[in-house]
Amino acid sequence: MIPIVMAPARKSETRSLGRLAARSGLLYGASTSTADLTSPYLLEAILRDCSIITPEYELKWDKVSPTPGEPDFRGAERLAAFAAGAGIALRGHTLWWHEAIPPWLAEATSDLFVKAAQAHLASTVSRFAGGMHSWDVVNEPLHLEHGRDDGLRRSPFLEALGPGYLGLAFKAAADLDPGAVLVLNEMGLEYASPAAEAKRLAMLRLIERERKAGTPIHALGLQAHLDAMDQPRRHPQLSAFLREIGALGLTIMITEMDVSDARCPRDRRVRDTLVAETYRCFLEVVLESCTTLAVQTWGLSDARTWLTTARPRPDGAALRPLPLDRAGRRKPAWHALAAALSAPAREDPRRPSLALP
Ligand code: XIL
Repeated sequence: MIPIVMAPARKSETRSLGRLAARSGLLYGASTSTADLTSPYLLEAILRDCSIITPEYELKWDKVSPTPGEPDFRGAERLAAFAAGAGIALRGHTLWWHEAIPPWLAEATSDLFVKAAQAHLASTVSRFAGGMHSWDVVNEPLHLEHGRDDGLRRSPFLEALGPGYLGLAFKAAADLDPGAVLVLNEMGLEYASPAAEAKRLAMLRLIERERKAGTPIHALGLQAHLDAMDQPRRHPQLSAFLREIGALGLTIMITEMDVSDARCPRDRRVRDTLVAETYRCFLEVVLESCTTLAVQTWGLSDARTWLTTARPRPDGAALRPLPLDRAGRRKPAWHALAAALSAPAREDPRRPSLALP
């Protein structure tokens, strides 16, 4: 077998997560907002580390259309112009998500809702078609607690359009932006709990149904909001699931990774070590189990994480879930990401082997 010999990394490479990821054929990036671009140290970190970015708010339906009428894409256009100018890929997050429906549709009739949802998808994809690496076409479709046999969430999209809403969305996006990777994005598939295993099974069944129906889903997005105190270091159930996803013809994108330290001991060094270890082990499991297109964290710096409101620490201490600290300095998590992203290319179970007889 001819060993895969990696050229020694140039210094500039070893200081950039995006360049290190590129050595393994991956993109690395983070969610970004227009506000981030006004922070000198965050702007520097994004330009140094990111080869792909995702608007944290600026492409969500409730932000694009807070009131009826013409959509407001100015925030998204600002980020798109920045990404294009910096040679950074851009993701469209997210077209149909039950948590980003504009308030003025709360009491809409089914017909009005469908018309508005289809108009939003068409206007958004058309506006950025050709410039998007990928679209999170549907976000968080599963919610087994709603008791449906198919595990689908009883969202306004399901109520108005039935289970076929996923196929409608993906086919419309594929028609309008045929060059983009179309992603079905989901949370809670990464954990070791019985509930997560049930959700993985429901996701496999959903993708099988949609593939049979001809729905153009290209990748499964794992949000990967992890818990440093709960994520197993070895995870055979997740590995098996990811191999099944690959066997169904999909690739994987890690779309929103962060590692909550809300339940860790207060000591900063202990928290940073546990968080870093979780990043490293989770990425090792994913990258050795399937073809992965991109790894993204939900934010870059602890200075701004959604977890501050979503999952605060009981003791009120500032959270430390991301690769950079509040001043933009690299933490052990940054180095753990660097190590996992630049590990020698693994034998992809589906790629032809380079080994010679
Ligand atoms: C979050 C943002 O980061 C928050 O600032 C906002 O208040 C709520 O949405 N899964 C998703 C993301 O798909 O869009 C969410 O982003 C985090 C959970």
